[in-house]
Amino acid sequence: MKVTVGVSGGIAAYKAVELVRAFQRQALDVHVVMTEAAQRFIQPLTFASLTGHRVITSLWNDGPEEENPASAIEHIDTAISTDALVVAPATANLVAKFAQGLADDFLTTMYLATPAPVVLAPAMNVNMWNHPATQANLRLLEDRGVRIVPPESGQLACGMVGSGRLAETDAILRAVLDVLHRRNDLAGETVLITAGGTRESIDPVRFLGNRSSGKMGYALAEAALRRGAKVVLVSAPTALRPPLGCEVVPVTTTEEMRTAVLGRLPEATIIVKAAAVADYRPVVQAEQKLKRSGPLTIELQPTEDILAEVVQRRREGQLVIGFAAETENALVHGRDKLLRKGADAIVLNDVSREGIGFDSDRNAVTFLTRQTAIEFPEMTKRELADRILEEVMSLRRPQKVVAEQ
Ligand code: CTP
Repeated sequence: MKVTVGVSGGIAAYKAVELVRAFQRQALDVHVVMTEAAQRFIQPLTFASLTGHRVITSLWNDGPEEENPASAIEHIDTAISTDALVVAPATANLVAKFAQGLADDFLTTMYLATPAPVVLAPAMNVNMWNHPATQANLRLLEDRGVRIVPPESGQLACGMVGSGRLAETDAILRAVLDVLHRRNDLAGETVLITAGGTRESIDPVRFLGNRSSGKMGYALAEAALRRGAKVVLVSAPTALRPPLGCEVVPVTTTEEMRTAVLGRLPEATIIVKAAAVADYRPVVQAEQKLKRSGPLTIELQPTEDILAEVVQRRREGQLVIGFAAETENALVHGRDKLLRKGADAIVLNDVSREGIGFDSDRNAVTFLTRQTAIEFPEMTKRELADRILEEVMSLRRPQKVVAEQ
């Protein structure tokens, strides 16, 4: 597998040498791209000698390769053929350029052009690290799926003490191996995901709804796509833009979601029911807007339980994952739901916790199976999506072993 190491211009640039060696010990084919500033700290020749490949230092070839027409699109070729891009050290300037999508040198241009996972290991002065601009840029990149390996605290090259020292080689290596491992591990799977909150009409203007934003389901769709799966996203109304490459089936009511899910069930290998589904619908939907006149009672009837129906109709080899939003005794209710619904796992959400869950970009959940309860501490929904998919895939493993025997 091919890893491209981007080196930007910080004092920690020399540590990229150790990182290149660490990748090589993992039998990875390492290519190096350097920014202009990086070359003031370390010579391209060092990396060229180590890797046996020409180090790319510019968008423009000055040597005889200029005559090679392929070189004009080298940044695209390199971007497409790499399995991961890791930038270490990533300076504050580079982080800002990545966040804003600037493409004024080879590394920044390659970043925009690569479909591969990206890992950034920032290193800078503590004040630069703590600056709201840097932190906002990092959050933006993290939200877009870039993996950040945070710097460590300690004595910095500038003499100050605090966060900003490039992370240990091992930590960067682990992050890169992790993203490489995830690449295409869902190839061949068709993941059917429900997201958002369904709505039940009361009259032409009003509906019964819930606080689901759809962010968790969309993050799961995006993560599954990134990992090579075919994704069908059955989405109740949300304010989100669906990830490129997935098939979106828009629905509004629980009954519409049920029809869409059951219709697409035969082709799915993994079903993830992240949607918050309305449990009740008005028995009668008023044809005209209800007029205000004293107390109003709306009679409700239960909707179909889609998850239970999916479990009933499942075929061999299909994995069914439910979600549970609980406000009290989360673990007890979660376990009960898992058994009652017959899903392979339940992603348990304690929605009573402030600042996470509904409409937040972050969440903390427990992945419940009949045997285990794996707690995921608070993290971005994107990262959580990957962790959930990892657990989902691990449910397949014992079955595979049996099948192979
Ligand atoms: N679900 C479903 N169809 C419904 C209600 C829920 O498919 N009519 C699914 C949700 O998508 C979720 C799981 O069931 O994956 C649990 O949803 P939740 O609302 O937490 O549970 P309920 O079954 O509604 O139980 P309760 O409201 O009593 O907690």
